Amino acid sequence: MKTLIQLCLIAVVLYGCAGGINPKDTAAVEAAFSKYEESDGKAIFKEKCARCHGYRLPETRTTEKWPKIIDRMAPKAKLTDDQKSAVLAFVTKHGKTS
Ligand code: HEC
Repeated sequence: MKTLIQLCLIAVVLYGCAGGINPKDTAAVEAAFSKYEESDGKAIFKEKCARCHGYRLPETRTTEKWPKIIDRMAPKAKLTDDQKSAVLAFVTKHGKTS
């Protein structure tokens, strides 16, 4: 039982680190981002949001969840208020609706 719990923990940690699109995989990044029209929010997201983890794309979270997440991530990514609003607009526009 204990081993099972440990295995689960390891899986969660690995999944957490690998979560999102690896920014070094340029082909995957371009493919993933080509579906969104160009906007300031998209450009800022692309530039700032994969420094610590892979890209967590807008459609991987609900539009309801994004504002709280962006509140947490904006200081980490050192976004200005304008950049923060632009990124929030981008992710909520393409976020999951349910
Ligand atoms: C300085 C490092 C850093 C930067 C830059 C950063 N993040 Fe994060 N992010 C983290 C850490 C650490 C976690 C895990 C802890 C947490 O959830 O607060 C995380 C978690 C997340 C999650 C999962 C949270 C959840 O509740 O589902 C999302 C989505 C996310 N970040 C999006 C972003 C976006 C969008 C940006 C760009 C505005 C960004 N991150 C920039 C460090 C960073």
